[in-house]
Amino acid sequence: MRKPVRGLTAIALVGALALAGCGNDRGGDTPSEPAGGDDATSEATDDAGEATDDADGGDATCVSSDAVVGVALPQKTSENWVLAEQLFNDGLTEAGFQPIVQFGNSGVTEQQNQIDAMVEQGAEVIVVGAIDGSQLGTQLEAAKATGATILAYDRLVKNTDAVDAYIAFDNFQVGVLQGTALLEGLEARQGEAGPPWNVELIAGSSDDANSIPFFEGAMSILTPKIEDGTLVVVSGQTTFEQAATQGWKAENAQKRMDTILSGSYEDTDLHGVLSPNDTLARAALTAVESAGKPVPVITGQDSEVESVKLIVDGVQYSTIYKDTRELVAQTINSIKELAACNEIPINDTESYDNGVKIVPSYLLTPIIVTQDNAAEVYANDPTLGPLTQ
Ligand code: BGC
Repeated sequence: MRKPVRGLTAIALVGALALAGCGNDRGGDTPSEPAGGDDATSEATDDAGEATDDADGGDATCVSSDAVVGVALPQKTSENWVLAEQLFNDGLTEAGFQPIVQFGNSGVTEQQNQIDAMVEQGAEVIVVGAIDGSQLGTQLEAAKATGATILAYDRLVKNTDAVDAYIAFDNFQVGVLQGTALLEGLEARQGEAGPPWNVELIAGSSDDANSIPFFEGAMSILTPKIEDGTLVVVSGQTTFEQAATQGWKAENAQKRMDTILSGSYEDTDLHGVLSPNDTLARAALTAVESAGKPVPVITGQDSEVESVKLIVDGVQYSTIYKDTRELVAQTINSIKELAACNEIPINDTESYDNGVKIVPSYLLTPIIVTQDNAAEVYANDPTLGPLTQ
């Protein structure tokens, strides 16, 4: 079911969130349409940094000022997760909490066991970056029964009401930015070759709740261009299921691109690739290189060190900047609010339906990065900036 479109005021308050992304349920169960406009009946938050007064806004459970806080992270499938580990350990300790930060490196069962153990160790708050957002219901419901507050971090937790809030970058908007960058890149770098331009689509892992909103956001921009003939997906693989990359693994994306290149591109060039993140973009570039093809316009996400270098060198076309420091700080800030017996700050109460409820969310704004604005965007990032060149 589609929900009413969020009010314009609320959109303005959260910064540069594009209208194209608003009003969709982004839980990822059902395909959503590109949306636009606003709805005067929608509610707006008072301030991007303050909790709403909504009855369905963030929870207001008091936690101890020295609470044990469990942070269950997924596998290290991209640099953002590795950075998050350190930031959570440092930030939570500095704020007086007792962090337990763990990766579920060997998969879902390990993550389930880790959450159970966090509850046994008295965690009052559990922050979850789910490996598989649909498989933590039992553990989170048990945690909730002890009075713990559950915060979904970066990835939505699905099919359970045992989640108090979702703190993330706007995933649908990430996809919109990627789709837009692919088109702009094709015009800028492959203008002579087309249109029509030959493109291929890569999606994330189907067990990650983010992968569908990323793909749908991008397809909200690309589908009309496929339909009007500007873009041609030569392999014919245009559905999420066909494009998905199990486990976000580079080798899976590379293998699929190898097959597509040998099967569909023997006599023709590949001009563009939609890639949902930097790891998979580099995997696709490796496949293109081994096929002896020219570098296509390719998108990414995460601002990984290697990809930022490729962007500066004009190889990878774009990435997305989702500052992990900002996301972790917002999450820790929510826990501090709980320790002060305040509500969790929320700026969106409509977009993320997890199959059981609309999860009150705090959405941060992703930024598109190309060679043109990289120096400016990363100027203050301690890992990436200032760029030399
Ligand atoms: C994150 C992306 C990341 C991917 C693979 C997603 O859930 O939002 O930033 O690239 O996981 O780690």
